[in-house]
Amino acid sequence: MRRPVIAANWKMFKTTGEAQAFAEAFLPLVKDAQEVDVVLAPPATALSTLSRALEGSAVHLASQNVCAEEEGAFTGEIAPRMLTDLGCRYGIVGHSERRTLYGETDEQVAAKAAALLSHDVLPIVCVGETLEQRETGQTFAVVGVQLQESLAKIPPDRAAQVVVAYEPIWAIGTGKTATPEIAQEVHAMIRERLREQFGAAGDEMRIQYGGSVKPANAKVLMGQPDIDGALVGGASLDPESFSQIVHFEDGDAA
Ligand code: 13P
Repeated sequence: MRRPVIAANWKMFKTTGEAQAFAEAFLPLVKDAQEVDVVLAPPATALSTLSRALEGSAVHLASQNVCAEEEGAFTGEIAPRMLTDLGCRYGIVGHSERRTLYGETDEQVAAKAAALLSHDVLPIVCVGETLEQRETGQTFAVVGVQLQESLAKIPPDRAAQVVVAYEPIWAIGTGKTATPEIAQEVHAMIRERLREQFGAAGDEMRIQYGGSVKPANAKVLMGQPDIDGALVGGASLDPESFSQIVHFEDGDAA
């Protein structure tokens, strides 16, 4: 049985004070969430604050990005060991906003994922197609290449620790969620590719769905056989709405 992993990607939102207030409101709401891994990925500036705020709770901390280098003259970058130092358990790599706005390549994503893993930070590797790619029937080809190349440096004996996030770009921040059928179809293809690449570990790897996940659609998405959690943007900024997603509850807080 794969344990669901529900992660909040706050993107460039929340100051330290706002992160602290979120934690104070959120932690009591998810105390009883024992069946899922709950993860918060704040901006780098709030990692330290949240690290302290999450102490003693079961909620994990994640980074939104990382530098693949160990250390050195890389102005503005953050090394994997700086993330472990702050207690990060997970690290998002290859988010479509990094790929499209900052030109991140599959090769860079692969190096970042491997660097995280070598420091025992579990990578959340994002893949997903644009609307144009979907409409021209290229979804499987595009996602297949992203997967193969972004996971190219993962040692097979560590693959089970890697999380893949399928985030169709046309569903991110648009309010347009993929239907459970569309999402499951791609997740099943991803599962098949992971099995081909990593053998039995492919069945253990968790595949999250991301793109306009909210309390009202979390339950049906999470009910699909190959959807093992969610990577949530907008609806994760509010403690109430994110806690409803964690509990896979229906609701209208988002
Ligand atoms: P939204 O949930 O705001 O669509 O964002 C999804 C996302 O990009 C999470 O990484």
